[in-house]
Order: sequence, then structure tokens, then C-alpha cells
Amino acid sequence: MSVLITGGSGILGTELKKVFPDVIAPTHKELDICDKNSVFDFFKKKDIDLVIHAAAVTKVRLCEENRELAMNVNVNGTRNLVDAIIEFKKKTRFIYISTACVFDGHSGMYKEKSIPYPENFYALTKLLGEYEVKKLNNYLIVRTNFVSKQKWPYPKAFTDRFGTYLFSNQVAEGLKEVENANLKGFVHIVGDRKISMFEIAKMTTPEVLPMTINEYSGPRLTMDMTLDTECWKKYSISL
Ligand SMILES: NC(=O)c1ccc[n+]([C@@H]2O[C@H](COP(=O)([O-])OP(=O)(O)OC[C@H]3O[C@@H](n4cnc5c(N)ncnc54)[C@H](OP(=O)(O)O)[C@@H]3O)[C@@H](O)[C@H]2O)c1
Repeated sequence: MSVLITGGSGILGTELKKVFPDVIAPTHKELDICDKNSVFDFFKKKDIDLVIHAAAVTKVRLCEENRELAMNVNVNGTRNLVDAIIEFKKKTRFIYISTACVFDGHSGMYKEKSIPYPENFYALTKLLGEYEVKKLNNYLIVRTNFVSKQKWPYPKAFTDRFGTYLFSNQVAEGLKEVENANLKGFVHIVGDRKISMFEIAKMTTPEVLPMTINEYSGPRLTMDMTLDTECWKKYSISL
């Protein structure tokens, strides 16, 4: 089976490449998803059975400050992949990595059928990407939240923002499992407990300091990113 991973150099993509051996994972430079001609050319030439689309502009502040870039990559880039499949490879299966941030983050524990209401531009573009993917026949939209096992990249972490977090390698393994089960539609790949960003940061970086949203200035953030699932099992977070 021929598998294309976009965003293969990213936090999740790096783990996906370990879980799905022998994938085709072009770098951003080799295949810019915003370049429609290159994307169409790629799909015209290559037989791809499965796309795992993990490429995105993921930084909330950057998406807010450069909305054109965020729209281009997260929405138009997704559209290019989808339209190329519709044009050349109608049977190709498509897995889109979406986010818990499509929900408003006020109540938490959102299920697959809960209604999205994004808080910021990043989340809006990810939701618009979901709608692009829904044009396909064979798709799976995976909403999740994860962090890398590497050192926490900031000196502080929020005690009042929550998720049903997993580490990125666990999400990659979960993705392999949902793919083997041939799920379709929407699925949430989630941890089995609600934890704060501070708690998860401490697991890899004991010296990380606590902070609250009151110390933050910037785009609106999704506060409670916890997800529930009615379509799949939950995973236990572990390093
Ligand atoms: N991290 C999270 O907490 C989280 C949670 C839920 C869902 N997600 C979603 O999961 C996916 C992966 O997230 P991540 O944190 O692993 O992302 P990441 O580390 O920020 O990596 C993003 C990847 O996208 C690539 N990329 C960006 N623009 C591109 C373009 N125009 N053409 C081709 N590739 C491009 C990047 O390549 P370069 O670096 O070379 O530009 C990089 O490989 C994303 O779709 C994200 O929205 C993330």
C-alpha cells in the first residue's frame, strides 16, 4: 500500500513516519501543498492509496498575524490535495489531522457530533479544512490534542488550559489502529483523563513553571480542549 504523509518533518509527522513504514513523505520544499500545479502533478504521477494530511501552520499567534498564510496552507493546501484526488485518484483514502480547537473550549469533553465554534483563526482554518475533506468519498477526520516527548519548549505552562492529551507517538499509534479498523467520518483520538498543560509539561520537563491565562496576552485561546469519543477507545497517557 502506498501512503503519502504531508507534514512529515513536524511533531506528529515524525512519529507517523515510524508507525507507517515505507511512506512517501516529501518535505515542504519538495511538495508545497499551496502549489496547486505541483500537487496535481504529484497525484497524476503517483499511485497513492492513503494520504495522512498532517501539514499545517500550527502556531496560533502566527495564524492570527498572518491570516493569508494560514488560509493558504490550512485551507487552500488541503483543498489542493482533495481536488487532486477527485481529479485523478477517486479511490484514495484521506485522513485529515484536525484539532480539539475547532470547539469553543468553554465546556470541554466534546464528542464527534458536538458542534464546532472556533475561538481563533488557526482553529477556524482547521475547521474549514475539515469541510474541504468532506468533499471526498473515503475520508477520516481525526481530532486530537498532543504534545511532543521533547523538552517543553517554553519556560512556563498553563495550569488553566486543559486537554485529554497524549504524546505524539501515542497519537501516531492510535492513527494506525483507526486506519486498520477502516473507520470513516469523524473520530477523536484522546487520552482517558483531563489534564492541564502544566501537568503534561511537567512529565517531560520537571523544571517548567506554572502560569495562568491572566499572564498571557495574544489571540484568544481555546481553554478546555478536552475531547470525548463515542466512536473509539481512549488511551492512557504515558511517556
Ligand atoms: N500540535 C498540536 O498540539 C496539535 C493538536 C491537534 C492537531 N494538530 C494538527 O496536527 C497536525 C500536525 O501538527 P504538528 O504539531 O505535528 O505540526 P508542526 O510540528 O507544526 O509541523 C507542521 C508540518 O507542516 C509542514 N508544512 C507547513 N506548511 C507547508 C506547506 N505549505 N506545504 C507542505 N508542508 C508544509 C511543515 O514543514 P516545514 O516545517 O518544513 O514548513 C511541518 O512538517 C496539524 O495539522 C495540526 O493542525 C496539532
